[in-house]
Amino acid sequence: KKVLLLGAPGAGKGTQSKRLAEEFSLEHVTTGDALRANKDMETEYGTPREYMDAGELVPDGLVNEIVEEALSNASGFVLDGYPRNLSQAEYLDDITDLDSVIYLDVSDDELVRRLTGRRLDPETGDIYHTEFDMPDDDEIADRLVQRDDDTEDVVRERLRVYEENTAEVIQYYRDSDELVEVDGEQTPDQVFEDVKSVVTDA
Ligand code: AP5
Ligand code: ZN
Repeated sequence: KKVLLLGAPGAGKGTQSKRLAEEFSLEHVTTGDALRANKDMETEYGTPREYMDAGELVPDGLVNEIVEEALSNASGFVLDGYPRNLSQAEYLDDITDLDSVIYLDVSDDELVRRLTGRRLDPETGDIYHTEFDMPDDDEIADRLVQRDDDTEDVVRERLRVYEENTAEVIQYYRDSDELVEVDGEQTPDQVFEDVKSVVTDA
């Protein structure tokens, strides 16, 4: 299966992608994680950090290369964090076909709450939230960290960049009748039931 998961910053793409990848034995391809793992790499565009810590998009040339490489090695995948503008969407069209395109719909107020409360386990990459989902194990709870771009100012800028660039990507897939919308404000388990059935039926 080739699955594309779309949604605003904080919509739950990472949370649901991890579960989908496990359920259907897919590769989780995420440009955000790939860039974070190489944040200080010198490229012809500068380092990814310069863009990411300000909440701006990393240049297409760099991101397209990451995606093409990752998809060429995967027979089935769930793609998270890409495409983020029309030029990336057209690039993706040229390199692969998709079985499902899912959009996680979440309101702005909820997005801000989710992003500012997010915590990550640096050892496993597991995603938590100070209010909605903390680990029972104290040892895990003590080692959780906040993402550099989850401060309130940068979150606002990421949401602005999303509206400016990525909202039209949603429309692009809606126009091609590929888009299935899922209510992303349900509990993580309920959202997963919905996305799972979309992928199963595709
Ligand atoms: P990226 O890492 O992709 O960040 P993002 O799109 O801003 O999305 P997030 O990872 O913040 O949110 P998510 O939807 O994965 O939510 P999550 O599941 O974690 O990109 C980061 C940066 O990299 C960009 O700003 C850009 O600079 C660069 N970049 C990446 N891709 C690029 C590209 N293609 N082109 C150019 N630049 C690119 O959940 C969020 C929180 O909510 C968690 O705490 C979670 O526990 C909680 N939560 C999840 N689901 C629920 C639920 N149902 N109910 C309650 N809480 C929930
Ligand atoms: Zn994510």
